[in-house]
Amino acid sequence: MKRREFLKGAILGTALVAFGEALATEGYSGTGKKGLLRLKNRENPTVLEKKHVPAIDAPNKVGKDEWFEVKVRVGYMTVHPSTPRHWIDEITILVDGVEVAGTDFKVGGVSAPEASFKIRLNKTSTIEAIENCNLHGRWISDPVTVVVIKEPTGG
Ligand SMILES: [Fe+2]
Repeated sequence: MKRREFLKGAILGTALVAFGEALATEGYSGTGKKGLLRLKNRENPTVLEKKHVPAIDAPNKVGKDEWFEVKVRVGYMTVHPSTPRHWIDEITILVDGVEVAGTDFKVGGVSAPEASFKIRLNKTSTIEAIENCNLHGRWISDPVTVVVIKEPTGG
């Protein structure tokens, strides 16, 4: 992802943090919010936050029921290591607080700390990503809102 695209997503994510936290608290149906780590201070991220908080790359607008790609990268500022002893073993995406898809990276040092999913929506929704580092725990992204328009975008 280019730096400009990432910064655009980061700014959008900032505006939606409060909304997303409310959704995640009420709707998340996975292993629970307890123990999930997140970015605490955007102005002064820790080294662990830089390489563990997932970044989401998704279009701002999509057509109703039109397939589109959601890319997740770990972490949002620094690429997480992928070694036989320290790696991202799971990346999951949530739509409106519900887990819809995920990966299961079984061996360290082989898979890159990123994943792509192709999904579709029938209404404007919030997307979040959760990743698990085998050494540093489960981290959740800032939420990203994807607006669904009635007519397909053609892209
Ligand atoms: Fe880690």
